[in-house]
Amino acid sequence: MNDERQTVVIARILLPAGRERLAERFDLREGGLDATRADLLEMVPGASALVADPSMPVDSDVLDAAGASLKVVANFAVGYDNVDLDACRERGVIVTNTPDVLTEATAELAIALTFAAARRMSDAERDLRAGQWHGWDPAAYRGIEIRGSTVGVVGLGRIGTQFARLAHGLGAKIVYTSRLPKPETEGELGARRMELRELLETSDVVSIHVPSTPETLRLIGEAELELIGEEGVLVNTSRGPIVDSVAVAAALEHGTLGAAGLDVYENEPEVPARLLEAPRAVLLPHIGSATVRSRDGMASAVADNVIAVLEAREPPSRVA
Ligand code: 8YV
Repeated sequence: MNDERQTVVIARILLPAGRERLAERFDLREGGLDATRADLLEMVPGASALVADPSMPVDSDVLDAAGASLKVVANFAVGYDNVDLDACRERGVIVTNTPDVLTEATAELAIALTFAAARRMSDAERDLRAGQWHGWDPAAYRGIEIRGSTVGVVGLGRIGTQFARLAHGLGAKIVYTSRLPKPETEGELGARRMELRELLETSDVVSIHVPSTPETLRLIGEAELELIGEEGVLVNTSRGPIVDSVAVAAALEHGTLGAAGLDVYENEPEVPARLLEAPRAVLLPHIGSATVRSRDGMASAVADNVIAVLEAREPPSRVA
């Protein structure tokens, strides 16, 4: 009987909330946290489903190695910039992601980074731990308050909208960029839509919530950081390639940018040394969705998607 079971390849790992339901129905091949691309290419031939995540590119070489058996690439993430959608479409392979379940967790982390960067928490804590706290200094670690500030939301999708709600609840004025106007959010939050340049000039805090695409590559570079300005705070919980992180490091060093709160980087898990050394930077290791509820929800959504496709049903969250 076992040889009739279809094979699901998990490129790295899937949490038990999803893995166990897959294990009941299918044969699993799992790469583990340290799996490399070479491991994936070795594991994937004959798979019916591939569970990937943003650290594992799925391109035509991976799809060709999998062969004609492959029906679905189920990404363990809402972002799917690691998956070549056209290559999947050409081969009739469905692609799915995990929206909604991580919206709150990621929006809350963006708020946490906003506070942490705006109030210089990393520098303050680092000094304290290093024995460099020499007593109360009225001029030290001065930042900005969120109440009364203008918060610019770049990309008003699910996570951007939830972040805007939370910032609005804290007393911020909301401005946003979006390909299309969002009249409902404008009504709910009094938010105002504007072009990126105006948003950068207007905002005290700028938070990035667009996906990584060729159009958003290096959307925020040296010139844009200058517009955010010496009191301004940049937050990025979306994808690294949208922000030039070496330019962020330089702007922090030169005092032309107030502070930065980053959760994502161009070549994860590498973080540019200059950024690690930069002042007024709060740097996290891509933990936007790292709550128990969110990660279990994501794992469960992966299982829902895989099971649906392998049982010839429409998956709940198909992106291609
Ligand atoms: C994931 C994410 O934790 O969903 C996304 O797009 O970036 C995060 O929620 C990460 O991609 C690992 O799966």
